[in-house]
Amino acid sequence: MDTQEIENNQTEPTIGEMVANDYRKAEVFKRFGIDFCCGGKELLDKTCNKRGIDLAEVKQALNELDEIPQVSHDYHNWELDVLSDYITEKHHKYVNQALPLLDEFSTKVAKVHGNSHPELIEIDSLYRAIANELPIHMDKEESILFPYIRQMAMAKRNNELLAPSPFGTIRNPINMMEMEHDSAGGNMQAIRELSNGYNPPEEACNTYRVLYGKLQEFENDLHQHIHLENNILFPKSINLEEELLR
Ligand SMILES: [Fe+2]
Ligand SMILES: [Fe+2]
Repeated sequence: MDTQEIENNQTEPTIGEMVANDYRKAEVFKRFGIDFCCGGKELLDKTCNKRGIDLAEVKQALNELDEIPQVSHDYHNWELDVLSDYITEKHHKYVNQALPLLDEFSTKVAKVHGNSHPELIEIDSLYRAIANELPIHMDKEESILFPYIRQMAMAKRNNELLAPSPFGTIRNPINMMEMEHDSAGGNMQAIRELSNGYNPPEEACNTYRVLYGKLQEFENDLHQHIHLENNILFPKSINLEEELLR
């Protein structure tokens, strides 16, 4: 049994589950630099310990949230086909719309300011890796994984038998998708560090500033996107498949 499984057998919720139950917690985790999407399978005390973050302070901030009533999308109770459609419509569409401008600005800023700020060249190449991988990744979700999830949601609603999938169990494509999320999330994290948390230097021109602002927006969207998949859609799809094949 690996550490992740051991963690998941405990009753304490993982970071991802905490965000799945209340998305506002994502803001708190973000503030403390805690990864809730790719690192969402960890327990809070372990992550804080590992990263030297004050657990008591984080808990205090989380408790403050509990006092305010929650008004956000209740993704947790959505049917899985609805959630897949939502992810495609909101997050996949966003990525496709954001890439052309990021492509242009990242190339331009690295070219013009790369000499005086060599980190821009590294940022450009990390961004390039994300921009090359992510559309292929989303295409696999849209053409293979999500259609199967839709099929499962319909089979459940209509009390029908589930047709066999071309990929064995759904855990196979999900493992692959999660590995690709880790890769994109890791590259984005490196960009965040290289850009000093998306803070441009004082003398930065407008294009430079817009690039950092856009990259930050892109990261925020990617975190929410991966969170919905890793922490809600994927585990629920695994459970649904097990239920239908039982
Ligand atoms: Fe996706
Ligand atoms: Fe994904």
